[in-house]
Amino acid sequence: MTILPTTGPLAHSGTTKLAGIIGWPVAHSRSPRLHGYWLDRHAIDGAYVPLPVRPENLLTAVRALRDLGFRGGNITIPHKEAVVAACDRLEASAERAGAVNTLVFEDDGTIVGANTDGAGFVAALAQNVPAYAPQDGPAVLLGAGGGARAIAAALVDAGCPDVVLVNRTRARADALAKALGKGVSAADWSDFGPLSRAVLVVNCTSLGMAGQPPLDVSLDHVQAHAVVTDIVYVPRTTALLAEAASRGHRTMGGLPMLLHQARVGFSRWFGVTPVVDDALVRFVAGDIPER
Ligand SMILES: NC(=O)c1ccc[n+]([C@@H]2O[C@H](COP(=O)([O-])OP(=O)(O)OC[C@H]3O[C@@H](n4cnc5c(N)ncnc54)[C@H](OP(=O)(O)O)[C@@H]3O)[C@@H](O)[C@H]2O)c1
Repeated sequence: MTILPTTGPLAHSGTTKLAGIIGWPVAHSRSPRLHGYWLDRHAIDGAYVPLPVRPENLLTAVRALRDLGFRGGNITIPHKEAVVAACDRLEASAERAGAVNTLVFEDDGTIVGANTDGAGFVAALAQNVPAYAPQDGPAVLLGAGGGARAIAAALVDAGCPDVVLVNRTRARADALAKALGKGVSAADWSDFGPLSRAVLVVNCTSLGMAGQPPLDVSLDHVQAHAVVTDIVYVPRTTALLAEAASRGHRTMGGLPMLLHQARVGFSRWFGVTPVVDDALVRFVAGDIPER
């Protein structure tokens, strides 16, 4: 007698639920591994696949996935802003972030765009540094790109009284502060005032990522009780985090944010709200260098 597996590709049926991640390139993405883990753990008849889509084909590809019966998917570099044009409706999170990282195709074909990056960051902090709360005081975000925007909006919405953006290109930080409005301001990279008042410091630049130079910022001015975080997750411990930990700061890397931002999409496509636990962290971290 042949025993068929209850999960995995051989278990797919005529009603398998489909989702995936659209990017260009997309081969580096950890999301198929992450969602595959949850599908397996919950024995769901579903699949989550990498979808390499060139920028010029993005809108056609999104509509085609909807027409092929996909439930939705994630959007990554370089499509997060361009995909807004394919959405029939944006949720408040995507409006605030000015970008979409999660698509949901509703039963009537409506394409809904959401952004779970900022909420994922806040949820990751609540799980990993439970003594910190956004209401505790000012936050300094280094960077003013897509990640910084989503996190700044989410921190303000979670009650952070003062978010300061510090970016190499000051004009971009000014524009972002203006777009987000109340509670968000910009400062010069050389101005240590905001850093010395911060209870949360977040590296939202791509510096420190594998293949990039490290982030060159001194922690001398940062209060000892401040939490220092990095949204870069390859490697898991950036030079910034190692330095912060050696000074006694509480720290968090980018992997928890990646895992938490994925929960909402999974729940909406596959009908189960999964958890982020140590087993999942170990599984996804397995192919990410520590340093
Ligand atoms: N953990 C997660 O779930 C998660 C989610 C999103 C992003 N990320 C990571 O976050 C990082 C940023 O992503 P993003 O989408 O926000 O990128 P982005 O929109 O391209 O923004 C990049 C930011 O990095 C700054 N930057 C780049 N090179 C720099 C340099 N040499 N010196 C100083 N600043 C520099 C840019 O400053 P300028 O404005 O001056 O160019 C900008 O503020 C990436 O490593 C990405 O993988 C992680």
